[in-house]
Amino acid sequence: MTAELLSLLHHLPRASAADPMRVAVIGTGYVGLVTGTCLAALGHKVACVDIDPERVATLRRGMAPFYEPGLEALMQRVTTRLSFTSDIVAAATYAEVILLAVGTPSMGGGTDLSQVTNAIAAINGALLPGAVVVIKSTVPAGTAAQVERMLREAGHPNSVASNPEFLREGTAISDFLRADRVVIGVAESHAETVLRRLYEPLTSARIPLVVTSRTNAEMIKHAANGFLAMKIAFINEVADLCERTGGDVDDVARALGLDVRIGGHFLRAGPGYGGSCFPKDTHAFAELGRQHGAPLRLIEAAMASNQARREGLGARVAGAIGRDVTGLRIAILGLAFKPNTDDMRESPALPLIRDLQAAGAVLCACDPRAVACASRIFPGLACFEDPYRACEGADAAVIVTDWEAFRLLDLGRLRSMMSGNLLVDFRNQFDPSEAAKSGLRYVSIGRPSVEPSQAAETGGAVVGVSPRRRPAAVWQERIARLPDSGSRP
Ligand code: UGA
Repeated sequence: MTAELLSLLHHLPRASAADPMRVAVIGTGYVGLVTGTCLAALGHKVACVDIDPERVATLRRGMAPFYEPGLEALMQRVTTRLSFTSDIVAAATYAEVILLAVGTPSMGGGTDLSQVTNAIAAINGALLPGAVVVIKSTVPAGTAAQVERMLREAGHPNSVASNPEFLREGTAISDFLRADRVVIGVAESHAETVLRRLYEPLTSARIPLVVTSRTNAEMIKHAANGFLAMKIAFINEVADLCERTGGDVDDVARALGLDVRIGGHFLRAGPGYGGSCFPKDTHAFAELGRQHGAPLRLIEAAMASNQARREGLGARVAGAIGRDVTGLRIAILGLAFKPNTDDMRESPALPLIRDLQAAGAVLCACDPRAVACASRIFPGLACFEDPYRACEGADAAVIVTDWEAFRLLDLGRLRSMMSGNLLVDFRNQFDPSEAAKSGLRYVSIGRPSVEPSQAAETGGAVVGVSPRRRPAAVWQERIARLPDSGSRP
């Protein structure tokens, strides 16, 4: 756990020892496990429930089933208040608050709520009188009210509240402990009292609490993700225009973001948004709009724009190479949809790899965390954790994910490992002139492309993508024949 997280925990008030709540969290995915662990860190007694007994066994050993920075360390610090079970009925019988954090995948255009309704069916006979059921999963507006009706029909008058999450993978723990706001949607005062008590350690540290209706809380979540997705799609289109006009999208975004009405976050141009949330939630939100006759045209446009961007990544690389990619060796740097996670759901690397492989390129991939996941999806794909190894003999390299490890690459060394000299950077990780000085032809997003600088060229770098792979010995020989080969970076 980082020193920053430790200090954050240290400074947050705890639920007083006399007043910890008994909480059950149904579902131990990113949202459920992070939420349960953080609530335990705030002093509550939390039972996390998962139907998968193997997953529960892993969790009981203090291991998280996915990579999230700081999560395992925090789980291991709060073992006295955090337990795991696959007995959903026992957990429901014990809890004053039951948080539903199960999956709500896309189904057709809309949302598959079967995991929510199955969980409700499993707990409805076991709830304590006064226990509050809280929907944390991202669901369409109206779901909490619908779930409450299910409970009433089964003869259980428990309240149902909405409490959306705003956690990003990779920074989920600090997003929880240092939230911009906590949103609770309630239909009556008892649920409000219970949720105020649950989040008291955060709200007493001055994190704003928004108390609103359940429908509003559900809308806030979809609108937040929809708006962020639109911001990304917008800056990506501005980046395309910059490429054609000779602009620099990073400068444009920086100046845009300094306007407090716009704000600087989520204006990084890139390969298009991915992950398990934005693609799914924008679809669900747009479908809700259609169902209610209030079309969300801007969301629909962002979705179409993002889809086109993802589908065009292979062509962008091929265009930068400028010739048929058949037989060319291309290194893919980054597989996860974003850094600090091993999650490849809707990652831009997926359509890119698919399209380059279909075009006959020979791919070699690298990711600090997602190699195991990639090997399951693309069994034949050569994967490395070390980016230099992935780039050995490559005609071109493509940065797909903005891992810090890639930002810290020694470009001169990278260039020396490659056969060709093309670096396509979908995350604008480098200053183009620095990349050029390293002997790279550097193509980034929304910025002018650069050729290797003169100094690098005279140092022995060969301009253009190598027409075919040459054995290292041939390169050595060519380099040795060049004047001043010693100055090669
Ligand atoms: C997103 C939201 O940011 C969270 O607030 C929300 O709780 C979560 O979805 C969810 O609904 O559960 P997440 O998908 O984990 O979180 O990650 P983000 O950091 O939002 O990134 C999403 C995608 O947008 C990534 O592919 C990322 O590379 C891309 N992105 C992000 C950009 O291309 N540019 C940016 O400026 C920011």
